[in-house]
Amino acid sequence: MTHGRPLLNRRLTEFGTTIFAEMSALAVRTGSINLGQGFPDTDGPEEIREAAVRALRAGHGNQYPPGPGVPELRSAVTEHQRRHYGLEYDPDTEVLVTTGATEAVAASLLALLEPGDEVIALEPYYDSYAACIAMAGGTRVPVTLRPDDGAYRLDLDELRAAVTPRTRLILLNTPHNPTGTVLTRDELAAVAALACERDLLVVTDEVYEHLVFEGEHIPLASFPGMRERTVTVSSAGKTFSLTGWKIGWITASPELVTAVRSAKQFLTYVSGGPFQYAVADALRLPDSYFDALREDLRAKRDLLSAGLTEAGFEVYEPAGTYFVTTDIRPLGETDGFAFCRALPERCGVVAVPNAVFYDHREQGAPFVRFAFCKRTDVLTEAVSRLKGLRAA
Ligand SMILES: Cc1ncc(COP(=O)(O)O)c(C=O)c1O
Repeated sequence: MTHGRPLLNRRLTEFGTTIFAEMSALAVRTGSINLGQGFPDTDGPEEIREAAVRALRAGHGNQYPPGPGVPELRSAVTEHQRRHYGLEYDPDTEVLVTTGATEAVAASLLALLEPGDEVIALEPYYDSYAACIAMAGGTRVPVTLRPDDGAYRLDLDELRAAVTPRTRLILLNTPHNPTGTVLTRDELAAVAALACERDLLVVTDEVYEHLVFEGEHIPLASFPGMRERTVTVSSAGKTFSLTGWKIGWITASPELVTAVRSAKQFLTYVSGGPFQYAVADALRLPDSYFDALREDLRAKRDLLSAGLTEAGFEVYEPAGTYFVTTDIRPLGETDGFAFCRALPERCGVVAVPNAVFYDHREQGAPFVRFAFCKRTDVLTEAVSRLKGLRAA
């Protein structure tokens, strides 16, 4: 306190320490297997890490790179969008390199919102969204994905009903963390039609674009009328198992890129020079890389899902991402927070309660998320520990 006021401003008071910090500390203290936080336990391709070393040694990017990102990476991003989705972007005016997807989302919201603007976000949502909306002075309007017949689905009528004259943008995320839902072509077409009809902007977080096991990832920007109103966000962290590099990017119209850059330049100005060159190489890896990543994670999804089912959880098998959401009620539990706080002591595994991803915490109370971006032997050991739960 100073001058009788709390140090943290009131926009951020509701965002204390993240659950990930608490759970990861618990994992270390108890020597548990950490399936809480979504980071891989093996590093991305050696040739890409070597490319970063080469860039460092050659003096590429050791000083401030250009504000929009190095031209090599901006070109690689546009090639990637063309190769995978047939989307055309101009590397000079329609790409901005950011410090991970986290900064891309933050800068987009800071740039595009006025205080009081409403932002519709799919609940449960990735925890930085609520904080960034708050920092930008916006008001979040959650639209809840509901579990139905083994998967979480978006209710399009609810989405439509959430739009008011104050709605400025929809903050979308597909493939969706934490539920693993991949929005279908029809759902995305409906979101696009709504955005056009109500003249809304969309910021779409597509960091799990290459981790789709069922269905396909379709960028929202590919729908009619969406290219001019969509900021598409992605990053190298998930696709190349390099979450510590924090290289992300947006693709959008020149006007949107200019707006987002105005905010980004005063957050970090630029990011990770040498890593940008290496990520350019990563984006150009052959299809076999992307296929192998997906198949590896599909096998891990199946292993963990089957193990959790056997251990007594109800499992929402994800169509995408590297998270699986479970319902703990079949185990006789109802409070995900209490369950996750006790789990390390009970069986040496860490997970996170989905309630932290909700405004309507009660909606998420009995759900718990496990990450499967871990080595097979680690997942096998976690499953065998979890199977002891019912006996314990
Ligand atoms: C939906 C979503 N968006 C963004 C991020 C963060 O991406 P980055 O590490 O590139 O900032 C994550 C990481 O878990 C995520 O799940």
